[in-house]
Amino acid sequence: MPRTPIIAGNWKMHKTPEEAVAFAQQLAPMVEPYDNVERVVAPTFLALGAVAAALDGSPVKVAAQDGHWETSGAYTSQVSAAMLQPFVDYVIIGHSECRAYLNETDENVNKKARAILTCGLSPIIAVGESLAQNEAGDTVDFVRGQVSAALDGISADEMGRVVIAYEPIWAIGTGRSASGEQADAIIRSAVRDTVCALYDDAVADALRIQYGGSVKPGNMEEFMTQPNIDGALVGGASLQSDDFAALVEIASRVKGA
Ligand code: 13P
Repeated sequence: MPRTPIIAGNWKMHKTPEEAVAFAQQLAPMVEPYDNVERVVAPTFLALGAVAAALDGSPVKVAAQDGHWETSGAYTSQVSAAMLQPFVDYVIIGHSECRAYLNETDENVNKKARAILTCGLSPIIAVGESLAQNEAGDTVDFVRGQVSAALDGISADEMGRVVIAYEPIWAIGTGRSASGEQADAIIRSAVRDTVCALYDDAVADALRIQYGGSVKPGNMEEFMTQPNIDGALVGGASLQSDDFAALVEIASRVKGA
């Protein structure tokens, strides 16, 4: 079964609600023709409701950038997966910026993944090694550990809704991306093979795995031609509608299911 490519724009802490809505309205018709690609935008929490309303009826889906595992409670600053449920299809968790600045642990990523699935949503679980780990040759072991921890207790059925994003930290926002072949090799050995060992061939074959880290129109084709890469989690280039649309067009042409 071919895997439908998924291109998600992680807007991070960019765009006010007004700017986010205007951008979504501009982007939607530009990417509308590419039905063989899943198209997703992830605004800030503050803009989620307005962007979801603006994209209602459009093929562009909405993701949140985080989601707490408890339904509600005394967790100042947090938003629960259950609260996100009416607005989004996806929730990004485990992003390296959350791991670095917000004390996101593997254990929390797992609790969030389970809560997101229980709410009927899909987690996009971000994993990836630091430059020091990469240079020490620890990438595969480290990413394997992140993947195994994130998926603890998740059923084979639920895996059909999970997306994993491999984002080497040294490639995020640096303009320095992994090569397509490097990224594909790590995605295969550290992510797909790990999922195969934890579940089975069918679950591993169906799993969609994105690459993230300085993806732009100029290098998108190199990633999309790799056998194990099923899309991209994009920061900077997703903030420009022309670039975002170009990424979707390339994914559709090279990889469209
Ligand atoms: P850049 O595309 O800006 O490198 O960011 C990648 C990223 O962190 C997406 O989640």
